[in-house]
Amino acid sequence: EKGGYDHFMLKEIYEQPKVIRDTLLGRIGKDSTEVQLDGIRLDKETMEKINKVYIVACGTAYYAGSVGKMLLEAQARVPVVADVASEFRYRDPILDENTLMIVVSQSGETADTLAALRMAKKAGARVLGVVNVVGSTIAREADDVFYTCAGPEIAVASTKAYSAQLVAMYLLSMKIGQVLGKIGDEEFAVLRDALLELPEKVERVLENAHLVEDLARKNLHMKNVFYIGRGLDYAAAMEGALKIKEVAYLHAESYPAGELKHGPIALIEEGSLLMGLVGQEALLEKTISNIKEVKARGANVMAIAMEGNEEIRLAVDDAIFVPRTHPNFTTLLVNIPQQLFAYHIACGLGRDVDKPRNLAKSVTVE
Ligand code: M6R
Repeated sequence: EKGGYDHFMLKEIYEQPKVIRDTLLGRIGKDSTEVQLDGIRLDKETMEKINKVYIVACGTAYYAGSVGKMLLEAQARVPVVADVASEFRYRDPILDENTLMIVVSQSGETADTLAALRMAKKAGARVLGVVNVVGSTIAREADDVFYTCAGPEIAVASTKAYSAQLVAMYLLSMKIGQVLGKIGDEEFAVLRDALLELPEKVERVLENAHLVEDLARKNLHMKNVFYIGRGLDYAAAMEGALKIKEVAYLHAESYPAGELKHGPIALIEEGSLLMGLVGQEALLEKTISNIKEVKARGANVMAIAMEGNEEIRLAVDDAIFVPRTHPNFTTLLVNIPQQLFAYHIACGLGRDVDKPRNLAKSVTVE
């Protein structure tokens, strides 16, 4: 049932090109002039009434939501707050009929996410669920559902469902941006073409998996690891650090690159690993200078960056390169080596990769 792979986690990592294709299928194709989201009410009239969006989720789904927030704000020019459900539901958020809430959940059963959904509905807000499990509670209770097409995810650590959630965020921000007249035809075509190339680019990242495995072996005995990035790379950093904690049981932190020097840099010493994420090349110089500060304090420094970026190669001990894509979509590619890195560290340390200690696949308690 693991299809020849040692673990479900690895099998699911390798399923990602298919999962991305499946999530795009029927929604966008090579001749599309708009994103087709049948049955989801995001028409002009509905969207023009919306004055704010909340994206609410837990764990990895929240990190996908953070990507959604950045893209939706950038592309649709609507204010978006992304929050973890267990915080959102216990504060007093401003919810009314002009609010759109997007809840993101693989299982569709996460207790806090469901409670946030119910709160929003009670206040008259519209709720759009981005859900993987068909017919789950969140899917049933949301006003509209965008199904991610990741198929069953067995490993506790989410990999393919996260990629499918990212694709959902990409499509939704394009859709809403277009409906609100913020994305013109030309820009749409550029985004569409870049999106359709992602599955093949993920395949190319997976072809180089052995390089990531070598680097995992080299870093097996690190004391701790710091993931840093700016903008969309920060969202990817949060996901990278969570994966290491979950499956390798190692202390990992994620920080916005510019925040490091406001405190956590005090933790850097020999035996620390810094993972610098540089998908967002507009911010390259800034992140490189943060990377150099850490290297000067004795940490081993690795980066995940876009192919052809020679500057980064010179600044770090080891670099992993992923194919170039539109800046909006780098997170998805940058994240794949992080998944493999966490997986191989976990295997190297003899962890129970598919069923890490203390964790449940779906958190139905509050
Ligand atoms: O089923 P959900 O997407 O609502 O689950 C949310 C989180 O519990 C989940 O993403 C968790 O963080 C995973 N173990 C991450 O790998």
